Amino acid sequence: MGKLYMHATLCSVILLSISFVHCVDQDPVAVEDWFKGIDTMKEKLTKLHFYFHDIVSGNNPTAMRVAKSTTYSSLTGTLTGFGNVVMADDVLTSGPEANSTIVGRAQGIYASASMEDIGFLMTMNLAFSDGDFNGSTLSLLGRNPVLHEYREMPIVGGSGVFRMARGTATAKTYTFNLLGDAIVEYNVMVSHY
Ligand SMILES: *[C@@H]1O[C@H](CO)[C@@H](O)[C@H](O)[C@H]1NC(C)=O
Ligand SMILES: *[C@@H]1O[C@H](CO)[C@@H](O)[C@H](O)[C@H]1NC(C)=O
Repeated sequence: MGKLYMHATLCSVILLSISFVHCVDQDPVAVEDWFKGIDTMKEKLTKLHFYFHDIVSGNNPTAMRVAKSTTYSSLTGTLTGFGNVVMADDVLTSGPEANSTIVGRAQGIYASASMEDIGFLMTMNLAFSDGDFNGSTLSLLGRNPVLHEYREMPIVGGSGVFRMARGTATAKTYTFNLLGDAIVEYNVMVSHY
C-alpha cells in the first residue's frame, strides 16, 4: 500500500515536471498546478528578433488613428501630435521585407503622450503565431521616443509559454516613409519559466 502510494506520487511528480516543460495547458486547474510548481522550475532566457510593420497609408493600413485631442495646450503639443491615439494590428515578420514570414501580430494602442518631444505610450500585446511560441503572447508597456535610435520598453508579462515573463524590448527604426509607414526592428530579451 505504502509502496503503491510512493509510486503514484513519483509518477505525478514526473508527469508534472514534463508538463512544466511544455506547459501551454490553459485549463484553470493546469494553471493552478503550474503556479504551485513554480519553485521547482528554472527561469530561462529567450531572445526574440522580428520586424514590426506599422502601415498607416494605402488601402490596407494596419494602424489607424481612433482619437485625437480637440484642444492642444501648446504649439509644441501640436507639433508632437499630442493626444493622437492609434489602434494597431501590425504584422510581425522574421525579416524586414513585407513578404517575409509572419511570426505574429502586435495588437494594441500607441498614443502620443509627450508635449515637448515625440514620445508614444505603447500598450501592445505581441501575439505570436509561429513555431514554439504559436498562441503565446507578450505584453509590452512603455515609452517610445520614436526619433531615438534605440527605444527600450519593458515587457511586463506574458501568456502561454511566456507565462510570468519579464523582459526588455529594444526597438530600432529600420525604414520609414513620408506617408508615416515604418518598419521597426525589435530585439526582445525575456526571462520566463
Ligand atoms: C519579396 O519581395 C522582394 C522585393 O521586396 C522580392 O524581390 C522577392 O522576390 C519577394 N519574395 C517572395 C517570396 O515573394
Ligand atoms: C498555430 O496554431 C494554430 C492553432 O492551434 C494553428 O491553426 C496554426 O496552424 C499554427 N501555426 C503554425 C505556423 O504553427
